[in-house]
Amino acid sequence: MTTLGTPLSPSATKVMLLGSGELGKEVLIALQRLGVETIAVDRYENAPGHQVAHHARTITMSDPAQLKALIEAERPHLVVPEIEAIATPMLQELEAAGAVRVIPTARAARLTMDREGIRRLAAETLGLPTSPYKFCDSLQELQAAIDAGIGYPCIVKPVMSSSGKGQSKIDGPADVRSAWDYAMSGGRVGPGRIIVEGFIAFDYEITQLTVRAVGTSGEIETHFCEPIGHLQVSGDYVESWQPHPMTPKALAESRRIAKAVTDDLGGQGLYGVELFVKGDDVWFSEVSPRPHDTGMVTMITQWQNEFELHARAILGLPVSTELRSPGASAVIYGGVQAQGIVFDGVDEALQVPQTDLRLFGKPESFSKRRMGVALAFDADVEKAREQARLAASKVRPRKA
Ligand SMILES: Nc1ncnc2c1ncn2[C@@H]1O[C@H](COP(=O)(O)OP(=O)(O)OP(=O)(O)O)[C@@H](O)[C@H]1O
Ligand SMILES: [Mg+2]
Repeated sequence: MTTLGTPLSPSATKVMLLGSGELGKEVLIALQRLGVETIAVDRYENAPGHQVAHHARTITMSDPAQLKALIEAERPHLVVPEIEAIATPMLQELEAAGAVRVIPTARAARLTMDREGIRRLAAETLGLPTSPYKFCDSLQELQAAIDAGIGYPCIVKPVMSSSGKGQSKIDGPADVRSAWDYAMSGGRVGPGRIIVEGFIAFDYEITQLTVRAVGTSGEIETHFCEPIGHLQVSGDYVESWQPHPMTPKALAESRRIAKAVTDDLGGQGLYGVELFVKGDDVWFSEVSPRPHDTGMVTMITQWQNEFELHARAILGLPVSTELRSPGASAVIYGGVQAQGIVFDGVDEALQVPQTDLRLFGKPESFSKRRMGVALAFDADVEKAREQARLAASKVRPRKA
């Protein structure tokens, strides 16, 4: 049985979000609707989630001492990581001491913040199909790995990075040094390890949103959303749509892989499993133990979007992954480097039939910063993509 309290009273059910960007903001809104007391944490002030939570806190989440002090001061029932760059060993310590429950688990947060932890688990422990790969600590090791079998083309990524930072494709020997140098500049914790992966010439890639929630029997049950197709440009998603058409075999294989990974990582909540597909073949790429950026499309396609699914699952409530309508999302970039920008053309965007919009409220814009997303639904998913792109193009960010 799940019992929820009253916020700002001694009975409150308290949830702390570590990371309060656009994804965290939507999780916080879903929690607010259930009367949960929310604490939004980010590294800078006035982050999107700060603006909709009961409490806003600004700390360096990768600093174990600051993280511990905040959790001990606030005493949340649940700690929900929304980003990767967190002092996850400290979360493991606090979880082991029974001080807090981490969503989905502290181990899942730790393994997925580092490409090495999750790749070795998927490929070596679980035996799931992945691209061929090797971890390297120097340019010499990188060249040796390519020569010994990874071959060309291949992709180099810092082990600690996200959103395509420091990531590049190597087409031949002439690119190896520049890929290494670029990776060294793009990692989250300064110079370090890289993974080199053989390039998979996939037909398409999907995100398989997978929810672990308590069923009527009291046991954890796994629920799958319809597959989300997406388009990535330099490691960042620019468009996503749902459902992506798949062969029955590729869909079954995607769900087998998603189930194997999420069963192992465990806990309660929503995961985003990234997969590459070619014909009936499927490769595991990576997994987020939290809502996925490409899953923003579910704000228009599902009865319960991915944020509501996450909120329900972590609270022990039932979930439904049922599709409401096919649809699409298209990212709105800042285009300018400025504080407190304005958005022209919001009315024109919303005049596009069957569309909706989210502006995240980020205090500062950069040219490639995601500032909003346009959403569209249509029985024809290709038509929805067009409408989402059209609506996104009508929104014109500029300096105030
Ligand atoms: N081995 C590969 N073969 C072909 N394409 C790849 C490979 N690895 C990555 N990509 C492409 O690059 C994109 C980003 O890669 P990946 O998801 O590993 O990086 P990321 O930095 O974690 O990105 P994000 O945080 O946006 O998910 C993938 O979605 C895919 O389009
Ligand atoms: Mg990815």
